[in-house]
Amino acid sequence: MIEQEKIEEIKRQTDIVDVIGKYVQLKKMGRNFRGLCPFHAEKNPSFYVNPEKNIYYCFGCKKGGNAINFLMEYEKLDFPDAIKRLAKSLGIEIDTTKGLRHKELYEANEFACQFFAQCLDREIGRRGQEYLARRNIRPADIKDFRLGYAPSSGGLVTFMRQKGMPVERLQQAGLVSANRELFRDRLMFPIFNLSGRIVGFGGRSIDDHMQPKYLNSPETPIFRKGEVLYGLYQSKERIRAKGEVILVEGYFDLLSIYQHGFDNICAPLGTSLTEQQAVLLSRFARKAMILFDGDLSGMRAALRAIGLLIDAQVDVYVAVLPENADPDSFINEQGAQALHDLLAQASDFFHFYRNAVKVDTVAQEITLIKDLIQIIGRIRDPIRYDRYLKYAAHVFEIPVETIQNEISVVSAKSEAPARAVQKPKISQEERMMAMILNGYEYFPLVREVLQPDDFSEESINRLYKKLLKEDDFDIADLSEAVDEGLREKLLSAIMRDEPVSQDSISQAIRTYKGRVQEKRLMERRNAAIKRGDEAARKEFDRELAALKRQLLNINVEKAVDSEP
Ligand code: CTP
Ligand code: MN
Repeated sequence: MIEQEKIEEIKRQTDIVDVIGKYVQLKKMGRNFRGLCPFHAEKNPSFYVNPEKNIYYCFGCKKGGNAINFLMEYEKLDFPDAIKRLAKSLGIEIDTTKGLRHKELYEANEFACQFFAQCLDREIGRRGQEYLARRNIRPADIKDFRLGYAPSSGGLVTFMRQKGMPVERLQQAGLVSANRELFRDRLMFPIFNLSGRIVGFGGRSIDDHMQPKYLNSPETPIFRKGEVLYGLYQSKERIRAKGEVILVEGYFDLLSIYQHGFDNICAPLGTSLTEQQAVLLSRFARKAMILFDGDLSGMRAALRAIGLLIDAQVDVYVAVLPENADPDSFINEQGAQALHDLLAQASDFFHFYRNAVKVDTVAQEITLIKDLIQIIGRIRDPIRYDRYLKYAAHVFEIPVETIQNEISVVSAKSEAPARAVQKPKISQEERMMAMILNGYEYFPLVREVLQPDDFSEESINRLYKKLLKEDDFDIADLSEAVDEGLREKLLSAIMRDEPVSQDSISQAIRTYKGRVQEKRLMERRNAAIKRGDEAARKEFDRELAALKRQLLNINVEKAVDSEP
């Protein structure tokens, strides 16, 4: 349980543009920020973030709420975890025991790294030194990447004991399991997170008979393989500067070519690229150059990575190595210039895909075409999308419209609310309510004038009563107060509307109140006519006329107000 006070503090301090900006590229548009919705595929941005009200809303898929809702939806977190995530980035301590535990794990890995590096430097690490020399790794890179050697005789536990670190800590960090040191006679690659802390290790066996060839630390609270990229910490500034990243499969591939100046580079950790890794990359690079092994599995991995990178809005190119070569063997055999040339000839995803997939039959060709079209449909950049659309039409000799139809069928299947109508119909009562929420700080003024009876629509009426009852209503809690449809309408109106001032809201409530009174008078007047009560009708007409004048006055004031 997190105390309510802490939650309030976190809500207050959270800057929604900051939070969402980590996942979505936002551009300032007037009072709002706008970007491509991360919750549904779209080419034109309909996702808005409003920093004043601390809310976001997508006019396309109708998702919306505050920063907490965003994290819950995007990261699939529950409420407490979303709060914790925010607290962490704000530097607010909530779960002290957990923070401490993470710190202990980092510390265990850091000491282990020091131990392995120290072994590599000494006689006991001779096998490691020889191995690295054999693989042409320079001392400078051994230092930068903090490589090490885990001796076959072990020694980590003893080293740690001297440092005063209990063996349980090593177990929690995955370095010791069932009282046995995990890494023995292995070359050690520490894996860094983006802030340069060591979250785990990869160890390559030096004896080729020792299986597995590569062994990674098990997953721990600080180490999730699918979320880290090896080498990103060292390369990230150059990746950002060049806007481009080279993706390789292995540790040695990375080191081998890094030292020849291909230093905007990183690698997934032995698994194929994950969605999170693709999104992580998109924070640093607009373009990815896939340089996987020249074998079938490298090819397959590249095909999978393409879709994920495109979804993350990264342009993808693939450089194809000769069969049986990997970047490490290629550069060692053919030299850096050959790799430069190979990268310069990289094909875009379209050509790569087309060449990589074997097509013998018409059925296979159809599958290829459909797969490629499906990928094109995921491109968000309108110009690139258009180019590829036309290109595919040309290459496959299929009309552009047919391809577009195929794309819209596929995307309609995968995301029902696609291509939404921009403006949902909104009633007067809903519009008034949106404004009340928008200018919630003026609610004391509103409650003076408007009674629950003034709202005849049931759900609006209920919401207004709730507002009257509660002291501090949070827009983000709308989902509990009203149904999905109404929440969407209200959020979308709030997002669109101008900021509310005291003047504008008092005008609006007077106009609204006037209209309600007018409607009531009309009903009574019509009833009087039905009854044949001429005197009553006249009286109502007089009242109506007065009301009209009053309403007109309000509107005249408004017109004068809004003159430039
Ligand atoms: N890998 C792994 N576990 C394995 C095999 C591979 O985690 N049992 C990961 C490692 O990150 C490795 C990458 O997959 O670097 C690529 O594997 P592979 O191509 O088999 O190895 P190479 O990189 O060629 O390694 P080396 O050159 O050392 O033989
Ligand atoms: Mn290799």
